[in-house]
Amino acid sequence: MKTQEVFNKVANKYDLMNDVMSFGAHRFWKELLIDWLSPKNKMNIVDVAGGTGDIARRILKRLDGNSMITVCDPNKEMINEGKKIKKYKDKIKWIVAPAEKLPFEDNSFDVYIVSFGVRNFSNIDKALSEAYRILKPGGRFLCLEFSKIQNKNINQLYQYYSKTIPVFGKIIVGDEKPYEYLTRTIKKFHGQNEFKSILEKINFEKVEYRNIFNGVVAIHSAYK
Ligand SMILES: C[S@@+](CC[C@H](N)C(=O)[O-])C[C@H]1O[C@@H](n2cnc3c(N)ncnc32)[C@H](O)[C@@H]1O
Repeated sequence: MKTQEVFNKVANKYDLMNDVMSFGAHRFWKELLIDWLSPKNKMNIVDVAGGTGDIARRILKRLDGNSMITVCDPNKEMINEGKKIKKYKDKIKWIVAPAEKLPFEDNSFDVYIVSFGVRNFSNIDKALSEAYRILKPGGRFLCLEFSKIQNKNINQLYQYYSKTIPVFGKIIVGDEKPYEYLTRTIKKFHGQNEFKSILEKINFEKVEYRNIFNGVVAIHSAYK
């Protein structure tokens, strides 16, 4: 199954499925990312692979709606779902584009966010170079992504649990394949230190990460 087909299939149940699969924890993980960012209303922020705009609305809520955020995603279905949500509707600028070829000028953003998106990029190096290009010098990169669990026993439990995810997919979305894709890409994705090294190779500085829930997910932070 191709990435775009996956998100076409799940778009209208995307936010609901996130709640079901993570028992609501994705909300808490996203809030931790925003805590680390500590957003200010003058920041020019782009949320790449922003999907339905969940992160953008959470940031706007912190700023009492006093900002504009750009949400960029190549999948029109995901964006259309996001556009149906009325809250902060006129505070989000929607752009249809892949992370590997961003239609933005060099040095134009203070913050680049990618939440549960980097795993789906078709060319990670190219996408991260684009992130670097569009950030202003001193600009901040923040990435929230599934990562590697540090404790062997917790990892084993998690592996059992992840086998049930496609079953939820079948019940809620009517198809297990997008969720088999999800568990496969999580397994294949880089560990925390490996991803840190990739960012350093792109020239990002002060790269650090925080593990959440023992590394079920990690947040990487870096500066241009
Ligand atoms: C799991 S969703 C994450 C949505 C949102 N950021 C969140 O945290 O809820 C992954 C998103 O990545 C997008 N995506 C897939 N391939 C991409 C690419 N090459 N460049 C940018 N986004 C991509 C999908 O369309 C989808 O909206």
